[in-house]
Amino acid sequence: MANTNLANAKTAKNDEFYTQYQDIQKEINAYLDYDPNVFRGKTVLLPCDDPEWSNFTKFFAQNFELLGLKKLISTSYAPESKKYKMPYQPTLFETQQPYFNPDKSKTNGKIFVLTEDVSGDGRINLEDLQWQYLEGDGDFRSKEIRKLRDEADIIVTNPPFSLFREFLAWIMEAEKKFLIIGNINAIAYKEVFPLIMNNKIWTGCRFNKRVNGKNMTFLVPNYYEMSGTELYMDENGNKFISVAGTGWFTNLEHGRRHEPLRLMTMTENFKHSKHKEVRGRKDYEHYINYDAIEIPFTDAIPSDYEGTMGVPISFIDKYCPEQFEIIGIGLELANMDIIKKKLGKLNGGPRLYVERDGELVRLYERILIRKKQSI
Ligand SMILES: C[S@@+](CC[C@H](N)C(=O)[O-])C[C@H]1O[C@@H](n2cnc3c(N)ncnc32)[C@H](O)[C@@H]1O
Repeated sequence: MANTNLANAKTAKNDEFYTQYQDIQKEINAYLDYDPNVFRGKTVLLPCDDPEWSNFTKFFAQNFELLGLKKLISTSYAPESKKYKMPYQPTLFETQQPYFNPDKSKTNGKIFVLTEDVSGDGRINLEDLQWQYLEGDGDFRSKEIRKLRDEADIIVTNPPFSLFREFLAWIMEAEKKFLIIGNINAIAYKEVFPLIMNNKIWTGCRFNKRVNGKNMTFLVPNYYEMSGTELYMDENGNKFISVAGTGWFTNLEHGRRHEPLRLMTMTENFKHSKHKEVRGRKDYEHYINYDAIEIPFTDAIPSDYEGTMGVPISFIDKYCPEQFEIIGIGLELANMDIIKKKLGKLNGGPRLYVERDGELVRLYERILIRKKQSI
């Protein structure tokens, strides 16, 4: 019980990671490079946000004209509904409004809308955002936010970590374009993998990548307890967390995903691979419980192999649909009867196995791919 509480508290904390401006800007630029009109005439919804200070709202409001948006809608979740409990203080921006309501401030979400120049300065920007309290708490699953979702063309946010599956399903059921932040672990989720396999969604420009030696880094609430090396504080006392394996998921086109991987042939790999596990070999290992060869590193995929190959999950970020087709995932395809017969028992869930020095070795999750015939 204590462990469950601890785990729940940790997940709740993870729901409160706030995205940095430059991460949003860099990612959006990649889509604009591919199609400068990707946002033109579109209604963009930023749910699960905190519009008074969120960088998503700031970025889209500041760039409203540049992107050619038709409408920007941003909604927040009521402080009292948040799973992670922290002292609540309404912002000056809110308390100074004549319609400030101290009760609603805690129990209701807020909606910010931008469509036109309200301030009269001749530009549409942050100054022109109009806000009011939502009727409910701003839960993305509520009827009120669903209606906004249905109105939107593109949904952009960093959704709560604990509700990632539900959030993605919520987007997909409405068949919307989206750009959201998630973790590499989500690739193997049974709700997510089929979407990736069928090219309905893909990883964005930045995914599972260290930039200047750092994973993607998020601002966390001041009350977040500093522990572990992944947390640090800047000179202004703001606390940040760097999260390995994080990045963007999307169904918006960007050029990088159509760049084929440059690969060596099998013989070249055995001669020149930088990986000691590959260099000097005569063959790749073959799985015991699926008809495919084991490729332990994405850059060790042989360019001239026609059969099925198992590759690490991180391959997805390099996946070019014109170069490879995805057959499935080890979790689904591994034949565990063979393993049970050989071992007499199972050590964990379905995985692909190889035999090394007479021992069966359970591998990390693998994605099964095959070269496209046209390449
Ligand atoms: C990871 S944070 C990201 C916030 C903001 N989008 C950003 O990136 O700066 C997710 C936000 O969603 C809120 N949230 C949690 N559960 C929610 C729900 N069911 N509906 C809407 N928002 C929710 C959290 O309280 C938090 O403010």
